[in-house]
This record gives sequence, C-alpha cells and structure tokens, in this order.
Amino acid sequence: MAHIAIIGAGPAGFYASEELLGQGFEVDLYDALPTPFGLVRAGVAPDHPKIKAVTRRYAKTAAKPGFRFFGGVALGEHVRREELLERYHGVVYAFGTATDNRLGIPGEDLAGSHAATEFVAWYNAHPVFARHCFDLSTERAVVIGNGNVAIDVARMLMLSPEELRTTDIADHAIDALAGAGVREVVVLGRRGPAQAAFTNPELRELGELSRADVVVDAAEVQLDPDSRAWLTSDAADATARRNVEILAGYAQRAPAGHSHRVALRFLRSPVEILGDEQGRVRGVRVVRNRIERRDDGRLAAVPTGEEQVIESGLVLRSIGYRGIPVCSVPFDERRGLIPNDAGRVVGNDAEPLPGEYAVGWIKRGPSGVIGTNKKDAADTVARILEDREAGRLNAPARPDPDSLEPWLRERAPGLVTWDGWGAIDRHETTAGEPHGRPRVKLVDLDEMSRVSGGR
Ligand SMILES: Cc1cc2nc3c(=O)[nH]c(=O)nc-3n(C[C@H](O)[C@H](O)[C@H](O)COP(=O)(O)OP(=O)(O)OC[C@H]3O[C@@H](n4cnc5c(N)ncnc54)[C@H](O)[C@@H]3O)c2cc1C
Ligand SMILES: NC(=O)c1ccc[n+]([C@@H]2O[C@H](COP(=O)([O-])OP(=O)(O)OC[C@H]3O[C@@H](n4cnc5c(N)ncnc54)[C@H](OP(=O)(O)O)[C@@H]3O)[C@@H](O)[C@H]2O)c1
Repeated sequence: MAHIAIIGAGPAGFYASEELLGQGFEVDLYDALPTPFGLVRAGVAPDHPKIKAVTRRYAKTAAKPGFRFFGGVALGEHVRREELLERYHGVVYAFGTATDNRLGIPGEDLAGSHAATEFVAWYNAHPVFARHCFDLSTERAVVIGNGNVAIDVARMLMLSPEELRTTDIADHAIDALAGAGVREVVVLGRRGPAQAAFTNPELRELGELSRADVVVDAAEVQLDPDSRAWLTSDAADATARRNVEILAGYAQRAPAGHSHRVALRFLRSPVEILGDEQGRVRGVRVVRNRIERRDDGRLAAVPTGEEQVIESGLVLRSIGYRGIPVCSVPFDERRGLIPNDAGRVVGNDAEPLPGEYAVGWIKRGPSGVIGTNKKDAADTVARILEDREAGRLNAPARPDPDSLEPWLRERAPGLVTWDGWGAIDRHETTAGEPHGRPRVKLVDLDEMSRVSGGR
C-alpha cells in the first residue's frame, strides 16, 4: 500500500489526509508543533470559536484507519527531505507560510513595531511566540493593511477584558490586553474602500464592538472615478460592493460615545516609522495616495506627496504572510512559496519531481479561508492519483512503516502522537471548564510533552 508523509497539520494537511485515506493510501501527518490544526489553533481569532469547530472534522479524519500523527517533528530540524523520500511513496508539503511581508521602510525594526503575524501568534499561545513582549501602554495603535488579519488584530485590541476572558486566548495575553492603554486603533489602507480585502461579516463585526465606535471619514468613501467605474462593472465582486456600502454606512453613523474607537483610514501609505530618543516607536509618517488605473487594469496607489504624522507607540504591519524555505525543498524566493505545477513540486528545470507535492498556503500563497484549502487539497490529490495510476510515485529505498515511529522518537524526543494530542486536548479543555472557557492553552513545549505522556 502506498504510504504518504504530509508535512504540516493545518487545514491543507488535514484535507489532503482525508482525500488520501479515502483513496486507500496510508498517511503520516507531521507537524513541527506538538499540537495539530495550524492557523485554526494559532491564527483564527479567539473570539471566533464557531470557526474552530472545523477541527471536529479533522478529528474524524484522524480516527480513520491508516492515519498517524507525528507532532513535535519539524522538517528541516528533526528530519530531512531526503530521509522522507527514502521512506515514503510521496511527500506532501503543507507547512504554510511562517513569516510576514515587510514594508521595507525606515524604522520598521524599532521597538514597538511588529508584524501582525507575531501579535496573532502571541495572543493565540503559539509556543514560539509566547514570550514576545508587546508594550500596549500607548493610547493609539496603528495597524497597516486592509485584510481580515488587520481587522482581527484591531478587534482584539478593542475587546473588553470580560469578553476576552470567555475565549481560549493565551492567559498572558488576557493580562496584557486587560491592562492595555490602547484607546484607539487606526487601520491604514494604502488603496481605497473599493480595494479593501476585508470580507463583509468581518467588516460588519467591527461596527458591533461593545466598547468601541468605528469611525470612517465620509470624504474617504467618496470613490474616485476609476474605482466607481470598476465597482459598477462586471469585474467587481459582490464583497467589494458590499464593503463600500458598509463603510459608507459607518461614515454616516453618529458615534455612540464609547470609550474606544477604531478609525479606518484609506489612501494612506506609511513611509517611515518614527522613533524617539530611546529607539521606541513614536509615530508613523504617512503619505496620501490617489488611485491610478494601470495599463493592465489594476487600480494602483500612487503617492500625492501630501504627508502627515500619526502619533502612536505601537505599529502592527498586517500586509500578508510569507512562506520560508524549508530544508532543500525547492522554493520560489520571489513569490515566497514552493514552485509547483497544479500541486506537483517542480525543480529548476520546471519538471515535476517524482513523489513531491504541495498544498495550501505554501502551494498557492497566503490567501483564502479555511474551506479554500479543501478544493486545493483535492486538486493536489488528483495529481497524486494520476501519478499512482501512471507508476510515477516515488520508489522509497526503505519502505517500512513500522520502523518509522522508533526512528522519529530518536530524532524528536518530544514526539506527540494523536493519543498524546488527545491528552493535551483533555487537559486544556478541563482547565477551561471552571472558567466557562473552551480551553486554557498550554504554551510551554516541555509541559505539553509531559501532559501528552511523552515525558
Ligand atoms: C490570523 C489569521 C486568522 C484567520 N482566520 C480565519 C477565519 O476566521 N476563518 C477562515 O476561514 N480562515 C481564516 N484564516 C485563513 C486560514 O487560517 C488559512 O486558509 C489556513 O490555515 C491555511 O492552511 P495551511 O494548512 O496551508 O497552513 P497553516 O494553517 O499555516 O498550517 C501549516 C502547519 O504546518 C506546520 N509547519 C510549519 N513548518 C513546519 C515544518 N518545517 N515541519 C513540520 N510542520 C511545519 C505549522 O506548525 C502548521 O501547523 C486565517 C488566517 C490567519 C493568518
Ligand atoms: N475571519 C476570516 O475569515 C479571516 C480572518 C483572517 C484572515 N483570513 C484570510 O486569510 C488570508 C490572509 O489575510 P491577510 O489579511 O493576511 O492578507 P490579505 O487579505 O492579502 O490583505 C493584505 C493587505 O495588506 C495590504 N498591503 C500589502 N502590502 C502592503 C504595503 N506594502 N503597504 C500597505 N499595505 C499593504 C494589501 O493591500 P493591497 O490590496 O493594496 O495590496 C491588503 O489590504 C485572506 O484570504 C483572509 O481573508 C480570513
């Protein structure tokens, strides 16, 4: 029976597992963390518990015969690509996009300037980011970017301590956010309302915060002629049209007089993050943009030269995630992902490498919701089926599934199996029960290993 290793136990890894098990393959699902579920655990906002119910489907996949989970085993640290190819008929890379895009402007590395990726991982108890420090004493925070992650971080900064305490947010983040001085979050979009990457429910939710007003300048939702023409054309999607309506509604709203506010500002790009004498962020110098239609039809932001300074002690750049090269797996530096042809990993000569596949964000880039990865996984698995049919899978030199777990335990003493994860899960949910929380997440790798029964 053909045996496949999937590297990364996020949504893409689980959907690929489900498809492969259904086609008679055996699957070993690896993750660098002792815990499964990728960004469903470490990305999705703590106040969105219903989204996380998708993990029940993943648990059903894990219960199927032929499935094994090897948590706490990182490709590139504990095992090498070549070693996996010696042991499996196929390797599917599903390791997501671990880092962030950078603005490339002066001041980006000042204390108080962070990637939203780090802030998200910190409040979600990702063990690698749990010890990060965010100075939240400033009155105003600036979030750069107009995607759903920008909305998530703005909202997390505005939730009340009572709201946070009913979630699975990291304990260290509850304490820090409850004591935060932030009263205003300014969210900056480099283009206009018609080009925002928000989805409608997320944008609407900002207008329903219990202790924050949402503020939009009416002049900024007056669209330029090119954006207006685009929005009424067939090229525009319903989400963009609805976003503009929601934002126009916000612009007409009288503030409810809440203690906090989220200001959505458009057509503004940061050009410099300003520091004080101690090297701490004291503000952001931004330039006003106008929209210009390019030859390819794209509506681009073009600086007008008009600048202003927004005073702030905390800047979170939320301008997209980015993949990192892992081991010797082919990597496209420019696009930040694994070069592939419809899921088949390709080498320098653009020819498919036998038995190597990619799925999820590391295959197509960091966009799309959880469900997008299901179709994406089905597409990659279709290539694997074609290759099995044509006898083009990898031919491993040491195809012995039973020898794998002892070998991996030598390499990664903190290895966590699905049963081990079950023990962590029970520990966390039991700890949450008395407080009416879904779980209290463990953040310490040694403690996770101990609770899992590994040590
Ligand atoms: C902040 C944030 C919030 C989001 N909220 C929502 C939401 O509310 N609703 C929604 O539908 N979508 C949401 N999304 C999108 C959704 O999370 C993604 O579409 C999805 O997680 C991508 O799946 P993936 O499996 O490709 O990557 P990931 O979920 O990132 O999973 C990759 C996995 O690979 C593991 N890994 C990394 N490197 C290695 C290695 N070297 N060896 C072994 N394992 C490794 C990681 O630990 C991780 O578990 C959100 C995304 C972000 C960033
Ligand atoms: N609740 C949810 O369903 C949820 C929550 C979080 C994330 N997600 C999904 O996860 C995916 C990733 O979300 P994301 O927010 O990280 O990415 P995203 O949707 O791609 O948004 C990135 C934003 O950053 C802006 N940007 C990029 N480079 C910039 C620069 N140099 N200066 C200023 N702005 C810049 C982009 O503007 P331009 O358009 O001008 O390039 C865009 O507004 C999305 O598909 C999202 O829907 C979903």
